[in-house]
Amino acid sequence: NYYAVIMAGGIGSRFWPVSTKEFPKQFHDMLGTGETLLQKTFSRLNNIIPAQNIYILTNDRYLDITLEQLPQITKKQVVLEPAMRNTAPCILMAALKIEKENPNALMLVAPSDHWIEDEEAFCSDVQVCFDACQREDLLMTLGIIPTFPNTGYGYIEATNNEKSPIKKVAQFREKPDYETAKKFVKAGNFVWNAGIFLWSVKSITNSFKKNMPTMYNLFAEGKTVYNTDKEALFVEKNYKKAENTSIDYGIMEKANNVFVKKATFDWNDLGTWGALHDKMTQEDSQNAVVRAIPYMINSKGNMVYSATKKLIVVDSVDDYIIVDKENVLLIYPKEKQQNIKNLLTEISHKF
Ligand code: GDD
Ligand code: MG
Repeated sequence: NYYAVIMAGGIGSRFWPVSTKEFPKQFHDMLGTGETLLQKTFSRLNNIIPAQNIYILTNDRYLDITLEQLPQITKKQVVLEPAMRNTAPCILMAALKIEKENPNALMLVAPSDHWIEDEEAFCSDVQVCFDACQREDLLMTLGIIPTFPNTGYGYIEATNNEKSPIKKVAQFREKPDYETAKKFVKAGNFVWNAGIFLWSVKSITNSFKKNMPTMYNLFAEGKTVYNTDKEALFVEKNYKKAENTSIDYGIMEKANNVFVKKATFDWNDLGTWGALHDKMTQEDSQNAVVRAIPYMINSKGNMVYSATKKLIVVDSVDDYIIVDKENVLLIYPKEKQQNIKNLLTEISHKF
């Protein structure tokens, strides 16, 4: 009864120039391990969920890359979105498709671009959550202990229940402003939302019915055609009509049956070059290097990334992102990394 959907439709614009609309970061071997983030995510889930029950949700244009990187799946496991509408619509559609195949399914939703090392701890947390979703009508989240007031995450306030590892959520707040995030971190009973969700297909479709009825009605209309050769036409015609909202704003902030389990695994949302830097920092130099052959003199705190094995020489440079790709070279201060997204909009006409 275990199913998973991997969300792989984002464009990872803060990881430009490596991540592009044509080839986003989840399809790259960002850490130089020999596997792409999507492949890593798939094999992590495959420890506990059969390969044929793992679906990939992505944009039309990434079908070929997806099948090339995951030869163990078939085309019917790739759910294609004709337009980018954020995560709520694609999750609902996947849930309805899975429900049609197996009404008792338990479903895990995972981003395609996170880094988790301790797969054993991950599987054991997933098992605990699946067991809970099997017993009760719950929407499960996994919580990460916050280390600073990051405004790019969702915050989960857990109620105090000493006995259970699974706690009822008092409030879910997606991407609060800085002052609010600071208050939350200080309060001590908030965790970050890891972006991994677990529920039964029944619970999540019911929650859409209640909290996002317009979207529910739009997609429920397709119940008779899902998993048939008429599905593509229905999706092509209707998907664009869906509201552009994330699952976090659309469902998690509103539902009153959200629960949280503290994650026992390490977690890094590889959202920015800085996050990759944190993950890969070498203790002695404070530099992080992917694939390049570095020659660093009197330089620290730099993130150096090269698409190929290339000698990169750096002298007297601190805290910079240095990315070398065939057609682009980026040299950018790390403290301004969030701005890469906007930068890309400004300069996209140049290439
Ligand atoms: N299929 C599909 N379609 N996937 C999408 C789409 C889409 O339109 N948009 C985004 N995704 C994928 C991304 O590729 C990523 O894997 C995942 O969905 C989450 O989207 P992000 O855009 O990365 O969300 P976020 O980082 O702003 O916030 C989410 O993750 C945080 C933790 O990393 C939220 O769930 C936060 O609450 C959470 O803290
Ligand atoms: Mg993200």
